[in-house]
Amino acid sequence: MKQRDIDNLRALMEFEAARTEPPKAFPALPDLPAGRYIDPRFYELEKEHIWRKAWLFAAHIDELPEPGCFQLWDHTGQPTVIVHAQDGSINAFYNTCQHRGAPVVLEQSGRRSSLTCKYHGWSYNFQGELISVRDLEDFRELDFTCRALKPVRCERFGNLIFLNYDEDAPSLLDWLGPVADEWREFQFDRCRLLSKEAFDLECNWKIAMEANTEVYHVPNIHPNTVAPFLDDRRNVNTFYPNGHGRMVAPQKMTYEERPDGGGRTGFPQIDTVSEIGQTCTQSYGVFPNWVSPLNQMTIPPLLFWPTSIRTTRFEVWTLCFEDDQGNVPGDVQNIWTSPDGSELSQVLLEDTQFGARIQKSMESDGFEGVPLSYQEARIYHWNQWADRLIGIENIPEELRVAQVLSDDWLMPNDPRLDEIGINVSAG
Ligand code: FES
Ligand SMILES: [Fe+2]
Repeated sequence: MKQRDIDNLRALMEFEAARTEPPKAFPALPDLPAGRYIDPRFYELEKEHIWRKAWLFAAHIDELPEPGCFQLWDHTGQPTVIVHAQDGSINAFYNTCQHRGAPVVLEQSGRRSSLTCKYHGWSYNFQGELISVRDLEDFRELDFTCRALKPVRCERFGNLIFLNYDEDAPSLLDWLGPVADEWREFQFDRCRLLSKEAFDLECNWKIAMEANTEVYHVPNIHPNTVAPFLDDRRNVNTFYPNGHGRMVAPQKMTYEERPDGGGRTGFPQIDTVSEIGQTCTQSYGVFPNWVSPLNQMTIPPLLFWPTSIRTTRFEVWTLCFEDDQGNVPGDVQNIWTSPDGSELSQVLLEDTQFGARIQKSMESDGFEGVPLSYQEARIYHWNQWADRLIGIENIPEELRVAQVLSDDWLMPNDPRLDEIGINVSAG
């Protein structure tokens, strides 16, 4: 992070601590309609647009480390196989044999020399090309070039593998925009997979995710786990194109100073991480479903996948940095669960505790909409961009959010800097 950006963030933190109302240019936020969490029409729109058009974090390279390794992936209703090809590239295909539609791989993961369908034995290479057909003489004019596995777009950010089901989507780097620039200091090509667990939650996926998209809740539900260490009144939210967001709040004490080490004892550190990353809690929301408080020791993404309109698969990943020998360190712990992985950590139990009851209450006649505060504005920003991706005209009027947070609030613009007299374009 450049010194000027660090200085601006520090100034914004003081602005946040001193203000007695929202910033002057900040608009009133209309209620989010309750239907966005409970109306099957909105759920279908998400399926058709959000899960098809957004880049989705799917896998870490350590899950398919060698050529021939593959992994099945199916979080959005489109069974996909991700493969590590002989030339080192990572490719993804619909897991759909182009003969009669059987899956080309059945196992969740493994290693193969080719992708051979079990039904009649058609075989594909790791570029997806059809390379052999049993009893070929019984087909008339079978054109192998038209029968390749259908590709899914697959791009990497360091060791992370992302998928996109839209042929016309921008590149992953363009999608991430300024987030990709800010993430360079974290050396994503040196982050390794320490652990990955999944839990089922009884609520809409956005209810679960939104609990990790604001700090307004911190004094109430985290009085002992987060509040003593996080200066939430100095939190600065930043809004990026495509619905991404960031929070940065100073820590009241470093991980080393915390009695329990904050669960970060023994992690190799990446020294390119700036002062902000090292002394603040910095968390990114990457549209649509990634939330991660990354720092110089860990990149621990939380992912929220809908399994129905009212249930969520909650994935908790811990990525750490490789040690000097390039290995995953042996003595560090997954930060999001109990040591045996059976239960969410105390902080996440606190974050998820109301999900099922919020879902029920939203489904009742007692609830109509969500009034969001300035502190919760990243949730509103996310919803505005969700509507843009879906196509505002495709959404029934009563389920839309008004586009009130103007592009004046999109990074690098920031009306708060104008209010405190810092000229962004200078320097
Ligand atoms: S369906 Fe795959 S070979 Fe027939
Ligand atoms: Fe929380």
